[in-house]
Amino acid sequence: MTARCGARNFGFLSAALGVALMLAAVLVPARNAAAQGLDVEKVFWCTEGKIGDQTKDQCLAARENILDNCTSCHAITPIVKAQKTPDQWSALLQPHRIKVPDMADADFAEVGKFLKAHYNPQNPVPKLPPELDKLGLPPA
Ligand code: HEC
Repeated sequence: MTARCGARNFGFLSAALGVALMLAAVLVPARNAAAQGLDVEKVFWCTEGKIGDQTKDQCLAARENILDNCTSCHAITPIVKAQKTPDQWSALLQPHRIKVPDMADADFAEVGKFLKAHYNPQNPVPKLPPELDKLGLPPA
């Protein structure tokens, strides 16, 4: 009886811990970015006119998807400093697709458009707060 209670409690605790860890993985990077003085409007800009193929609303939605899904393994740093050509972005995103399994295909396509229109050789690298700027890549 006691043993079964214990086992049940453990199950509940590990489930709760799992949820807490998942939440931390999602929330901590976003909060860190804000705490470090990231100017989202400058680094992930969206304007009234179109940027690339995207309207302002599509741009804003893609930006939110990036901030929500692309910062659990690494910071935004390698993303916004990338300056890739469209082909280079496609080459990165194709194998990266499996890293964001919860993102819908249509949303992933919009994220790709956003990245190609913002972080390319024509645009200057956005200025990041020093704490963020020095962050690099995790091992593959
Ligand atoms: C599950 C973990 C994970 C997630 C989520 C993730 N990445 Fe990555 N990313 C990595 C790892 C590991 C590397 C370094 C190795 C590599 O390039 O694949 C990396 C590297 C990168 C690079 C640098 C590659 C280069 O050579 O310049 C960019 C840009 C990037 N990711 C963008 C993104 C974007 C955009 C998203 C969201 C759609 C994303 N990442 C989500 C793990 C992740």
